[in-house]
Amino acid sequence: MGYSDIYAKWKADPEGFWMDAAGAIDWVKKPERALNDDRAPIYEWFTEATVNTCWNAVDRHVLAGRGDQLAIIHDSPVTHLKHGITYAELQARVASLAGALRAKGVEKGDRVIIYMPMVPEALEAMLACARLGAIHSVVFGGFAATELAVRIDDCKPKAIIAASCGIEPARVVHYKPLLDAAIEQAHHKPDFCVIFQREQEVAKLIEGRDVAWHTFQFGVEPAECVPVEGNHPAYILYTSGTTGAPKGVVRPTAGHLVALNWTMRAIYNCGVGDVFWAASDVGWVVGHSYICYAPLIAGCTTVVFEGKPVGTPDAGTFWRVIQEHKVKSFFTAPTALRAIKREDPEGKLVGDYNLRHLQALFLAGERADPDTVQWAQRHVGVPVIDHWWQTETGFAIAANPLGLGLLPVKVGSPSVAMPGFDVQVLDEGGHEVAPGTLGAIAIKLPLPPGTLPTLWNAEERFLKSYLNHFPGYYETGDAGYVDEDGYLYIMARTDDVINVAGHRLSTGAMEEVLASHRDVAECAVIGVADDLKGQSPLGFLCLNKGADRDPAEVVAECVKLMRERIGPVADFKRAVVVERLPKTRSGKILRATMVNIADSKPWKMPATIDDPAILDEIAGALKTLGLAKG
Ligand code: COA
Ligand code: AMP
Repeated sequence: MGYSDIYAKWKADPEGFWMDAAGAIDWVKKPERALNDDRAPIYEWFTEATVNTCWNAVDRHVLAGRGDQLAIIHDSPVTHLKHGITYAELQARVASLAGALRAKGVEKGDRVIIYMPMVPEALEAMLACARLGAIHSVVFGGFAATELAVRIDDCKPKAIIAASCGIEPARVVHYKPLLDAAIEQAHHKPDFCVIFQREQEVAKLIEGRDVAWHTFQFGVEPAECVPVEGNHPAYILYTSGTTGAPKGVVRPTAGHLVALNWTMRAIYNCGVGDVFWAASDVGWVVGHSYICYAPLIAGCTTVVFEGKPVGTPDAGTFWRVIQEHKVKSFFTAPTALRAIKREDPEGKLVGDYNLRHLQALFLAGERADPDTVQWAQRHVGVPVIDHWWQTETGFAIAANPLGLGLLPVKVGSPSVAMPGFDVQVLDEGGHEVAPGTLGAIAIKLPLPPGTLPTLWNAEERFLKSYLNHFPGYYETGDAGYVDEDGYLYIMARTDDVINVAGHRLSTGAMEEVLASHRDVAECAVIGVADDLKGQSPLGFLCLNKGADRDPAEVVAECVKLMRERIGPVADFKRAVVVERLPKTRSGKILRATMVNIADSKPWKMPATIDDPAILDEIAGALKTLGLAKG
């Protein structure tokens, strides 16, 4: 059956469709019903079934005789190391780690924060939690101590598992001092921390609180897989929203297993023994779904890559990894390809490698600009498949499903809605608009298995953020349109979220940091177009009357503050001091107009503007940064 038939089959009987897909999962107690709408519009899937994620991702493959197959390949150009871990080894390592966690009191339902770079131990930590039914929350290494502290206070972990350090090409990231500072700042204190000491930096342990990864496993009984209910949270992953407080997206166990397993064949056309590589980070949703869980659930070999698309050592690294490990499906962000294209515009380095095992290149995380897609089509010689998804959904809402037979590729579009998602483009009143008309993209409820049922400890916020605006729909926060053939085009966010190098960031959170500077009276942050990173944050600062400060100094302090409070990942390097901010008469800052001016795009004077002259001042300030050339 091709895509159209499968989509129609799902639409005719969504529950039957997902019950069929559930057949590929090993259950402790099989599901008898798929959808649970008892608390609609909060939906759950497979609530009454029981299952264990780690069993499905690891043990069942060993039991099936595939213990000698590689589960993980660690390829780390930043440490010049490469090694593989078989499924049998992974099982032993994860059972031992889980046993040690259990011996120190971690049980089903306890939260565990994981703060680690791209090492296999990060996946092992996730799987060990899954084995016990503990709920992990992975925090990306590019976040600063304050962001880690916010997450500690929100999910209240019993334990934190961290590495001693991460390796960025230009520096060592000292995880341990960041961890210590975060615990110091947080009100909640974990019972203990497990530190994975890396050769590159051995951290000092705090007696009575910290234990070393290897020593605390010594002599413990390995743990068996603990069955959990279908709606048990597998993990919490924090993502940016409109305000500074990140949203804790909850991932339900059973739906996660069923949906991810389905996508591996239908979308990525991968199964047992295939090598799958997502060049992302375990700190992001792509890392959760497609570095860790989905490839392992499907019995593939997953590549854990600790490096960058360029500079480790050159722009040929991705192609080297694909050749060397015989990667069949490869997944990266458009920004990574833009970085490669900038260094290797003619694709000469691509030609140095044999990519014969590669069947397709998948892109997500931000809009895939046609130039980049066409460059990859020309040089990599396989279908380049854009697909659209969010932390909230955990897998693609729209894609071109390779495993169901590739549809015609339309550059600039992530193609069509996947089964499970009834995607509609709505006007402000919640009515569907005609093809080609821009609107808010919404998904008819219920969302499919594996998508977020709620936010951690924040059901009201869940309803307010996603469900209240368009009753009966999930609001994606993205705007775009559908063409006559049902292909989606994702054009912009409808909220204050920006996308920098495929990383989702909140301008609201950045504004909170700037506003805390003692000389800043008022501020705004916008995302301006960036050739490499898609968008780049830019701050506007109005100083307190009588502040009498050198503007350049205040800007430098704000840049430093942002790095300390949000982290290097914010990539906040530019700000300008202005007298006033442009506002509507009701006091709303005209961010969208400022973005258009900065990007040298045509813009109209907003009818509601308080004082039109301010926009000239803004344009003048932007020109000093080489922006607003129009
Ligand atoms: N731990 C600590 N710091 C990190 C980090 C991590 N895991 N990841 C990034 N950073 C730091 C970087 O070192 C950099 O710090 P600097 O300001 O001291 O230079 C800062 O965060 C910004 O990093 P980044 O946005 O990655 O920019 P870059 O200039 O280092 O690299 C690219 C540019 C395009 C090569 C890089 O952004 C990239 O590979 N992007 C792809 C992202 C991706 O795959 N996203 C997946 C989402 S699905
Ligand atoms: P994240 O939750 O970090 O995965 O970010 C999700 C957001 O990234 C989406 O809401 C979009 O704004 C953007 N995004 C992800 N994939 C795509 C894509 N293929 N095309 C356009 N935007 C995308």
